[in-house]
Amino acid sequence: MAELKAGRLLEEFRARFPHSQPAAVAWGPGRVNLLGEHTDYNDGFVFPMAIDAGIQIAGALNGTSQVNLYSLNYAAEESFLLEEIAPSEKNPWANYLKGVFWQFQKLGYKPQGADLVIQGNVPQGAGLSSSAALEVAAALLLATLHSWRLDAVDLVKLAQKAENEFVGVACGIMDQFASMLGQEDHALFLDCRTLDYEAVPLPLAERGLAVAVVNSGVRRGLAGSEYNTRRRQCEEAVQLLRERIPGIKALRDVGAEHLNLVNELPDPLAKRARHVVTENARVLEGVAALKAGDLEKFGRLLNASHESLRDDYEVSCRELDLLVELALEVPGVLGSRMTGAGFGGCTIALVPQTSLPAFKEHVQSEYQRRTGIEPEIFSFRPAPGARVTAGADLRS
Ligand code: GLA
Repeated sequence: MAELKAGRLLEEFRARFPHSQPAAVAWGPGRVNLLGEHTDYNDGFVFPMAIDAGIQIAGALNGTSQVNLYSLNYAAEESFLLEEIAPSEKNPWANYLKGVFWQFQKLGYKPQGADLVIQGNVPQGAGLSSSAALEVAAALLLATLHSWRLDAVDLVKLAQKAENEFVGVACGIMDQFASMLGQEDHALFLDCRTLDYEAVPLPLAERGLAVAVVNSGVRRGLAGSEYNTRRRQCEEAVQLLRERIPGIKALRDVGAEHLNLVNELPDPLAKRARHVVTENARVLEGVAALKAGDLEKFGRLLNASHESLRDDYEVSCRELDLLVELALEVPGVLGSRMTGAGFGGCTIALVPQTSLPAFKEHVQSEYQRRTGIEPEIFSFRPAPGARVTAGADLRS
């Protein structure tokens, strides 16, 4: 992915706010989840990586109680008063930023008025967490502008709460965590219950492999409401299973040894719970396989994850299934699955670098022929997490 330069952002800031100077620029990357889908809000395991595409925000405090936002991508502006933060219907993108201001207030901080200009190069509505990237960049920027001392995990939780409570999506913690704490050439093995994590090296280049990301072009229309439904179904499954497995708090506590009890749940709860139980096991196996250098096994786990998301969790769609099928038809491809919440968005595939041209050609032409949609194919690098540039570095 071509690097996003701050030059245009700073120029726009100076043109829009001539009486001010940008005091800091924050960057929040998007993410690709390699394994562990719909497990984060079940206290389970995930294995995402931050990517080299994301959102950048330049900002300065303005000495008033008004916040002025300008999005370069949308060529749209939005202003609001700190004492009246309400969701915007006209500019949904602004709600992620408003949510972060609001969440700081809820925690007892007193954010001041500010001028912010935003630009991004992560595709939106594609399941690559452009919203988490925006929230994380905003949280980091505000903490910097006000010199508040919060550690990275506090900012992650704040960003997640902004989305849960202000935007109204009951997302888990994976996306914000990956965006904040990603590391170059590593994926993060995260325990979503304890928030313990380990950066695991991704030996892709030395094994001649790449993670190809294919955007189905299907916007995740159902994602919000169906996502919240899945979450509720998991909670219902836990309630019923608690009668048989005392003391469990979340599906995380249900192991493979309990699958017979899971299978006895009424449908669709049995299917939903089975996905989460088997997916958690796949993350553990996948991390072990990577550490042992067994990329072939990692690939097979990607395939199994997709089947489970398609058949048990039922969050795939025809287009995502087709992309996975087409990927697996290319010789040498080790595995493929949908990534993110589902109902559209992207798939990933583990592809030998030498097969990339054949992969692109086959997936692009066949997908377009069968759906009429031209897919976008990206090759992201596992990238570092959020960061902020401030002070003298901005003037150069
Ligand atoms: C979305 C949510 C995450 C996670 C994934 C599914 O990306 O924001 O918290 O639940 O879906 O794994």
